[in-house]
Amino acid sequence: MEKFIIEGPTRLCGDVNISGAKNAAVAIIPAALLVEGICTIENVPQISDVKISCEILKELGVKVEWLTPNTIRLDTTHINSTTAPIDMTSKFRASYYLIGSLLSRCHSAEVGSPGGCKIGARPIDQHIKGFEALGATVTVANGRISAKADKLVGTSIYLDTVSVGATINVMLAAVLAEGTTTIDNCAKEPHVVDVANFLNTMGADIRGAGTDLIKINGVKELKGNGTYSVVPDQIEAGTYLLAAMATKGDVTIHNCISKHLESLTSKIEEMGGHVEELPDDSIRVWTDERAKKCNIKTLPYPVFPTDLQPQAGVVLALADGTSILNENIWESRFQYTEELNKMGAHITAQGKTAVFEGVESLSGAPVSASDLRAGAALLIAGMAANGKTELSNIALIDRGYECIEEKFTKLGAKIKRVDVEE
Ligand code: EPZ
Repeated sequence: MEKFIIEGPTRLCGDVNISGAKNAAVAIIPAALLVEGICTIENVPQISDVKISCEILKELGVKVEWLTPNTIRLDTTHINSTTAPIDMTSKFRASYYLIGSLLSRCHSAEVGSPGGCKIGARPIDQHIKGFEALGATVTVANGRISAKADKLVGTSIYLDTVSVGATINVMLAAVLAEGTTTIDNCAKEPHVVDVANFLNTMGADIRGAGTDLIKINGVKELKGNGTYSVVPDQIEAGTYLLAAMATKGDVTIHNCISKHLESLTSKIEEMGGHVEELPDDSIRVWTDERAKKCNIKTLPYPVFPTDLQPQAGVVLALADGTSILNENIWESRFQYTEELNKMGAHITAQGKTAVFEGVESLSGAPVSASDLRAGAALLIAGMAANGKTELSNIALIDRGYECIEEKFTKLGAKIKRVDVEE
């Protein structure tokens, strides 16, 4: 087991390249199962959730070839199973996309219950509602989810809650269905649009992704033989910009889409930070003053993303004044605040609301990541804090960030990855 040893305080300065989006890549890789043949996917982040997705595809008979560290070629011509290994699917959330993909291509899917960050209940009732509306029979038993259909027929589906996972999964199941499907009250996140763009590149007929209503005209097959590049990671980009704010730094991120970051950059300006959009898909954020207090509410895109909430919490913990953070997506996404309080923060979290009484500085301490984004937040806190921070459970961070310590070290951070036995 590994941990990070972080020496602070550090003022982060310099340039960082943003990788492909985790939440797009972990959907596009299983979506390739809909293609009868070969597809090449570029800008794929080297993260553990991607690696395990590829291992599962191999188990299903897919030929997986890494052409470069960030480009994979998938040959799905000879799928020979529709049952994904339970021990592998329980390691991450996006394994649920195997259901929509295998149901669509093979009319049969069996996967273990999905794993993922412990940040709330995480039901999949809306996924199942969509599959059943298209004509599938879904059973959930013994830690497994199985879905079967003689045929899938297009229909109109209204999602009771705005869900990234359900929007993408039902879209996957509808691509090869007979007739037209409409999905209403959809999630509009950049990764939803990216999956639709990937499928359309491979021959699907999906319209309206990025709006509340998606329309899918079923097609006979996806021929593939195409190449698609994964969208830059909105959340990784935001993590580096908030790290600049927490360390009173000056950071320029490259290969990002500023439109995807508007809800964040407007909050950074409210906190007193300076934001400069640069011509070549880059954004610079800098400050040399203490952040100002600021209230934040998380909601589905395009409002402030829940996956940047813990990282923003570090800035609020060090801000001048009292800030309120409302987490409207997940029931228990404030576990990191207990760890920040060990570093000298003054945060009171209750249910979906946390009150941050800003402090002048944090001090290094042994802390532990409870989930992926909490881990990123504590890494930022360690860089801002005085002294040494020992951050454990960092395998959770490797699930979603490519080369995080190398990238932060390039910005001046002092981070060492050590084996606990050492
Ligand atoms: C995706 O999770 C992301 N994960 C999460 O990112 C992200 O926090 C979340 O969307 C919200 O943006 C991936 O893309 C792999 P949802 P997902 O379905 O799909 C309720 C990260 O850090 N709901 O949009 O699981 C649910 O309880 C991770 O990268 C139902 O009630 O989230 C929640 O309150 C963490 N029934 C809300 O909807 C359903 O069937 C949003 O969940 C599905 C969801």
